[in-house]
Amino acid sequence: MDMKTRIAELTRALLGETWPEAQDLPAAEEIRGLLAVPPNPEMGDYAFPCFRLAKALRMAPPKIAQALAEKWSATEAARAEAVNGYLNFFLNRVNFARETLEAVGASAGRWGAGEDGVGKTVCLDYSSINIAKRFHIGHLSTTVIGNSLKRIYDYLGYRTVGINHLGDWGTQFGKMICAYKRWGDKETVEKGGVDEMTRLYVRFGVEAKKDPSLEDEGRAWFKKIEDGDEEALEIFRWFKDVTLKDAMRVYDILGVQFDSYAGESFYNDKMEPVIDELRAKGLLTQSEGAWVVDLTEDKMPPCLILKKDGATLYATRDLAAAKYRQDTYHFDKCLYVVAYQQDLHFRQVFRVLEKMGYPWAKDCVHVAFGMVSLGGEALSTRDGVIVYLDELLNQAIDKARAIIEEKSPNLENKDEIARQIGVGAVVYTTLSNNRIKDIDYPCTKEAYTDDDGTPRTKYTIDWEKALNFDGETGPYVQYTHARCSSLLRKAEALSFPAPDYSGLSDDEAQALLRLIGRFPDVIREAAEKYEPSMITRAVTDIAQAYNKFYYEHRILDGEPAEAAARVELTRATRDVIKAGLSLIGIDAPERM
Ligand code: ARG
Repeated sequence: MDMKTRIAELTRALLGETWPEAQDLPAAEEIRGLLAVPPNPEMGDYAFPCFRLAKALRMAPPKIAQALAEKWSATEAARAEAVNGYLNFFLNRVNFARETLEAVGASAGRWGAGEDGVGKTVCLDYSSINIAKRFHIGHLSTTVIGNSLKRIYDYLGYRTVGINHLGDWGTQFGKMICAYKRWGDKETVEKGGVDEMTRLYVRFGVEAKKDPSLEDEGRAWFKKIEDGDEEALEIFRWFKDVTLKDAMRVYDILGVQFDSYAGESFYNDKMEPVIDELRAKGLLTQSEGAWVVDLTEDKMPPCLILKKDGATLYATRDLAAAKYRQDTYHFDKCLYVVAYQQDLHFRQVFRVLEKMGYPWAKDCVHVAFGMVSLGGEALSTRDGVIVYLDELLNQAIDKARAIIEEKSPNLENKDEIARQIGVGAVVYTTLSNNRIKDIDYPCTKEAYTDDDGTPRTKYTIDWEKALNFDGETGPYVQYTHARCSSLLRKAEALSFPAPDYSGLSDDEAQALLRLIGRFPDVIREAAEKYEPSMITRAVTDIAQAYNKFYYEHRILDGEPAEAAARVELTRATRDVIKAGLSLIGIDAPERM
């Protein structure tokens, strides 16, 4: 049992003992929720506000706090002091160290993991890239936030379903096939991948300006895909394979996985029943020839369901997808990790589901994140303000590799460790602030002329700072993990008696223990708020606290039983950092 729960239970028991007649006393669980961490450690490790009890006990909070403090026996887990209606707890340092380290040890590397979610399912829609477009930095946040949330929910015992809702539907694919038939060939596309497809698409635009009949041809090809024409489908599926093959390389580097790639086109045959249902429920109205769900009451523009020509829309597909996910996975929650710009779209879709009478509509959540910019400029594929993810990752990995060559030329397995550090720097940067905050990646710009002679600018992200082993960075946290690992390797060669935890009563050890002790709560809060950055913050704090402890105390020297306790604290730190990094999708090398 963790200390916070212990204190909550002791407090509950004490309340019952002191006021046996009282009704409506909060349960231990509720008391636990009320226990706050005072802003400054001199006020204790936890504080229990007695205000909530004033009514039940018909007594002023300071009096209640006073009575409880007098009865609290100092031999318990903590000493208690009454201050202005608060009961401040000061943990028994030696006890606290022992209990925390024993609990972390017993968790076998999964500190804070739990069964909170057993029997519950969370669907996560993330990354959700678009076919025939190169995977770029605009899809970095959704990919790493979604991946982290999936890991967090897994850790808490939920069943998770990771869904890459591919953008694989739209008239552009007809145009692309048309361009491919006219000017493309298999080999060039196989070799050039998504870039070649983009080139074809751009060429279509240029040529269609000269010869507008091409537009009809493109439309005809799209119609063929819709009608299930063999040739059209085959080319379309191949485009998809080529795009996914490119994307897979990025997912592999990042260590990101999905359980389903059911994208927009997957819902082609699943929308009709939804449209019928909308009509049967009287929700569809006609507006300028199109069919919409009116949302005036909700102060939103209408949700477009069918265009004038009968074509379905993004929202139609999302309605079908939500229903499919509920029918297939029976989710308790369905998260959509998508940029803030799509806020209205999701509010509309969720509201329509609610109007259809689905109670689970309230379990659909848009997990929005902020805008991404490059050196202060908004992303724009058209204007070339873009950085591709494979390039971005490779650059970070190359830089990491160069740093390794300089700092630890004899390291084994340099390539793999460079990958871990490079990815660590990228992921950490993306997950270091609240997700809703905009992220500006510092970059350098360089002018060049492309194959067609058009002047362009190449944007390259500057990873120098993010790779700093001493700053608040991924590599810094990884480095602390490697430092702990190295110390533990040394400790293994020595023999220690049973630990004496009074060796951990100093402020530095206690500060570190407090952070470790609270980590399970952080994971739960991160899950509740869909906020991986809370984990990033927590592992950084733990790394900093460990380094402070490390600089103030010689770990392996001194009285052996006390040294043994410091080794145990080092082991717990290593395990918790490793678990925490893994929750945000970062590897923890043992050496670097
Ligand atoms: N492909 C879309 C985009 O890149 C994101 C899809 C998000 N998921 C969804 N179910 N709408 O903007």
